[in-house]
Amino acid sequence: MCGIVGFTGQVQAAPILLEGLRRLEYRGYDSAGVAVQHGGAIEMVKASGTVERLAEKTAGGASLPGECGIAHTRWATHGAPTDTNAHPHLSGDGRFAVVHNGIIENYAALRAELLSEGYAFASETDTEVVAHLLEHYYDGNLKRAVMRTAARLEGSYVLGVLCADEPGRLFCVKEAGPLILGLGVGENYFASDVTALVGRTKNVIYLEDGEMAELTPENISVYDRTGREISKSVSHVVWDIEAAEKGGYEHFMMKEIMEQPRAVKSTIEPRLRNGRIELEGFELTAEEFSRFSRIVITACGSAYHAGMVGKYVIESLCRVPVETDLASELRYRDPIVGPDTLLIVVSQSGETADTIAALRECKARGAYVLAIVNVVGSTIARLADSVLYTHAGPEIAVATTKGYTTQLAALYLFAVWAAEKLGRIDDARYNELIAELDALPARVQRAIDLNLHVQYLAERWHEQRAMFFIGRNIDYAAALEGSLKLKEISYIHSEAYAAGELKHGTIALIDEKRLVVALCCQTALFDKMVSNIQEVKARGAKVLGLAPEGDRRIFAEADDVLFAPRGEPLFAAVSEMVPLQLFAYYVARENGCDIDKPRNLAKSVTVE
Ligand code: F6R
Repeated sequence: MCGIVGFTGQVQAAPILLEGLRRLEYRGYDSAGVAVQHGGAIEMVKASGTVERLAEKTAGGASLPGECGIAHTRWATHGAPTDTNAHPHLSGDGRFAVVHNGIIENYAALRAELLSEGYAFASETDTEVVAHLLEHYYDGNLKRAVMRTAARLEGSYVLGVLCADEPGRLFCVKEAGPLILGLGVGENYFASDVTALVGRTKNVIYLEDGEMAELTPENISVYDRTGREISKSVSHVVWDIEAAEKGGYEHFMMKEIMEQPRAVKSTIEPRLRNGRIELEGFELTAEEFSRFSRIVITACGSAYHAGMVGKYVIESLCRVPVETDLASELRYRDPIVGPDTLLIVVSQSGETADTIAALRECKARGAYVLAIVNVVGSTIARLADSVLYTHAGPEIAVATTKGYTTQLAALYLFAVWAAEKLGRIDDARYNELIAELDALPARVQRAIDLNLHVQYLAERWHEQRAMFFIGRNIDYAAALEGSLKLKEISYIHSEAYAAGELKHGTIALIDEKRLVVALCCQTALFDKMVSNIQEVKARGAKVLGLAPEGDRRIFAEADDVLFAPRGEPLFAAVSEMVPLQLFAYYVARENGCDIDKPRNLAKSVTVE
């Protein structure tokens, strides 16, 4: 949530900062701003709306001279998305500018204190206290002023600091939010994530909570909370700039849908060796693994939906009880978790605040933590005992697609690996499941190829005011994700129900105007789904059926049909999600929605 970027070097900073903001815009896009040092002062431009509006106001950055600056793209928490509330925020004397990602929880007390000392506030934000505190503590030593300021703050704060009196020098602070440093030649950067930097440098330093960095064009120094300089290792980012660009597609979301065969392959292929699953980074023996009497999966949003699929698959194959818990609930409910619990934490970004808090809570109670994460070096990856990276590549569209399907692929790998370790499946079943995993990327491609008519179906149904998604077992978990995809990008109200549950109340909402999307890929439950389809049809609803390829029975039941390639029903959620993603995409496109940047959302939810 919110993207920050800082640059210090020998060339004009503002165009580089704006380019960084464009790449970080998925983190928040209600307002943006940039501040640079120039002629012993700070020059600043802010704009409500997108980064493009800021670019228009500054001629792409050209109108702002100066080689050192900071910038921000906002997802509002305190105060409406106006020009005034946009970051950076200036101290009263105009000598300090600050950008911030997070929430300063004690800002009201600090604001009252600063007001009583005569500081005047221009905005409604929590962030502005930081600018005034810097002015208050500055005595010619910027490092000391930043440290004193940070020591006064509670909550989550990733800060970028610019001072008019310190040419070419930037400070940044990390507390409970993502922040990386980029190392260039004669120039250095900080940013919320690596996407802001690709194209300029691939050498990065991941900061830990409580660390602070000082950047000049020639040097980067990192300090701990006490101000002691510490040494940090430099990591090399493996992916290229193309991965963070649209590559000819109209939207990142469509590009990422189309990338799924390759992404799922990247999750699975490196872990299949000589017909066996090897989970590098999670190398527990059968004996060590059997100490877990239960598994808890925690996550938010789509990652939670992936966890729900994981529950069905793991319980079915391993016969170990699995609980799925929303991270925002788990953290506050005194969970029954201990050393006999394996906690699986699922997160694309690895930075979701509630998920991090749930992880910490369970780890403190002795749980062993396995993280399924996409972003390398992210907070969740670093806090976990073991990590399975999904290797999906950068996901830019706010609505997750390849992030979700690769999380499923990682959960399947884990389930089959654990089932074999625990001796719950025989060799024949193990080999069969390995072959199914191997075939999954091709199935995803087939799911794309089978559903080219989905665009036409979207044209037909895009004027619906509400839709229902129903399914049983794994199809129910997939229905939750299909429904979320539709509502978050098209703004059409949509709900997902376990198909047998609809008649216990919600069927009151079904009438001849409603479209019900019925997921029928759990072949053993097909007849049960037919009964539920009949129930809604009897109330006049129209039905869009999703069935395994070649299952002609669906034509007799549904008004329109989508297909998922046939394969192991336990792994059906991956390929059946593809037509649902495409359906949501085309419905949103028909309705003229901003697909990559849906209203009110941000990709990385780093606040509670
Ligand atoms: C929906 C979506 C969100 C995320 C959720 C968790 O399309 O992307 O629901 O799944 O915010 O994010 P991560 O996986 O980064 O923890």
